[in-house]
Amino acid sequence: MTEQDFIPETYSKTKDSGSVTWSSPSNIALVKYWGKKADQIPENPSISFTLDHCKTTTILSFSKKESSDIFSFEVFLDGEQKDSFKSKIETFFKRIESYLPFLRDYHFKIETSNTFPHSSGIASSASGMSALALCLMSIEKELSGEVSETYFNQKASFLARLGSGSACRSIEGDLIVWGTHKGIDGSSDLFGVKYPFQVHQNFKNYQDTILLVDKGEKQVSSTVGHNLMHNHPFAARRFEQAHENMSELIEIFKNGDVDAFLKIVESEALTLHAMMMTSMPYFILMKPNTMGIINKIWTFRKETNSKVCFTLDAGANVHVLYPESEKDAVLEFIKSELAIFCQNGHYITDQIGFGAQQISD
Ligand code: PMV
Repeated sequence: MTEQDFIPETYSKTKDSGSVTWSSPSNIALVKYWGKKADQIPENPSISFTLDHCKTTTILSFSKKESSDIFSFEVFLDGEQKDSFKSKIETFFKRIESYLPFLRDYHFKIETSNTFPHSSGIASSASGMSALALCLMSIEKELSGEVSETYFNQKASFLARLGSGSACRSIEGDLIVWGTHKGIDGSSDLFGVKYPFQVHQNFKNYQDTILLVDKGEKQVSSTVGHNLMHNHPFAARRFEQAHENMSELIEIFKNGDVDAFLKIVESEALTLHAMMMTSMPYFILMKPNTMGIINKIWTFRKETNSKVCFTLDAGANVHVLYPESEKDAVLEFIKSELAIFCQNGHYITDQIGFGAQQISD
């Protein structure tokens, strides 16, 4: 597939108005995407677990307007008008308009809500952009008549990527690959695909508890962070390492080796933050409590032989990953030893999910 394949032929149907609703989850990367080329093309392949409970629901209402000269839309978060979201959506619309030529023909009302608190430090861009991309695809489907499920999902992922890179991994589940990797046929820089190989029972229904260490706005956005990988002294080696880690994970998913899995996952998280600390300008997104949690997890693992591990996004919060078989023990450990590191003791218990869902037409 190339970009050209997502430019539609003339639509065969017309529609004056309507409304579509999608609910789309967040995702957590195991091999991290950090560094991009123009048009949101990743510098290296990444793979993520799709989450289940952390999601955004978006209702997109559309009505035909007189002229097609400008984009016209309004945005609401939890029922309140959010003009601060408008510039991000305007940029998104500009990037995708050649793939969705109907965008200027309608006025859109975007009503969105998240299952997780807006100011939780959990990025809503993956779930938010994927939900919006799916709503737009539902409109395109109504205008074109039949489209295959594969095309629908691929194009939704392709569009979501242009909104926020990692959003392209939120359309389906439970394991999604984005970025070309030589060992994974069909992998693409343009959209996420379902991980195509065997996955051992040990990795089914994996659990993710998100410890909310810092609910504030990040000091450095991921856009700035990605850009700092240009001319980064360790970039070339880092991108190679991501390819190697992907290859190793293919074996690990097959043979069920959770010890090898957690080494790659934790190393990827620390490498992501090492890239931030060695950029110019350098920055640190971890907080003392992030380190406190990591050390507690390492001690717990040594003392109990647990397979619990951590990963990090571009922020201070910690994702605690563990097999379903350890659910009770790890939740008890989180409650008794890790909750004190969380802002107001808050954490969110989640698990692997299977992708976005359309709510109604
Ligand atoms: O999708 P963005 O541009 O916000 O980048 C997210 C990057 C990480 O979350 C740090 C890693 C990843 O692969 O999700």
